[in-house]
Amino acid sequence: MKNIALIGFMGAGKSTVAEVLAKKLNYTLIETDGQILSMSHLPSINDIFDKKGEEYFRQLERNAIAEIVKNTKQVISCGGGIISSQETMNLLKQNATVVFLSAEFETVKSRLKSTTTRPLFRQEEKAMLLYALRLPIYKQYADVVIATDNESPEQIAQQIIEKCNAK
Ligand code: S3P
Repeated sequence: MKNIALIGFMGAGKSTVAEVLAKKLNYTLIETDGQILSMSHLPSINDIFDKKGEEYFRQLERNAIAEIVKNTKQVISCGGGIISSQETMNLLKQNATVVFLSAEFETVKSRLKSTTTRPLFRQEEKAMLLYALRLPIYKQYADVVIATDNESPEQIAQQIIEKCNAK
C-alpha cells in the first residue's frame, strides 16, 4: 500500500489529522519537521531558519523526504512549504497519494494566533501573501483535496480513507 502525504498551509490541520489517520490505518506516523530537526542538530525550526536560513531548511526537507519515501504504509505530515521544491514534490508524488488539506486564511490565522513556532507566520501580511502564492501550487500537486474548516479530525481522516480508496 502506498504512503499518504498530507500537504497544506500551516494551521490546515495536517499534524492532528495525520495522527488520527495513522491510527485508523495502522500506518506509521511521520512528521517531516521532526525528521528535519533530528538531522539539523538544532533545537527548533525557528533556530534552523534564523541561524541557517530557509534554503538550508528546504535542503534538509528534501533529504528528509528522500529517506522517508524508502518506506511504505506511512502517513507523512509535511511542512507547509514542502511544495517549494519541485524535486521534493516529484519524490513525494512518485511514492505517496498526495492529500491537500485546505483551509481558509481566516481559519489558519485563528488556529495559529498564539503560535511562536512558525518562522513564516510572524507577520500576518507576509503570511497572507505566502498563502495566496501557495494555494494554486497545493492544488496542482494534489491527488485529493479536503477542506478542513468545519470538520473534525475524525471526519477528515474518514474522508481521506474514502477518497484514497476510490483512487
Ligand atoms: C513551514 C511550515 C512549518 C515548518 C516550517 C516552514 C512553511 O510546518 O515546516 O516552519 O514553509 O509553511 P507546518 O505546516 O506543520 O506548520
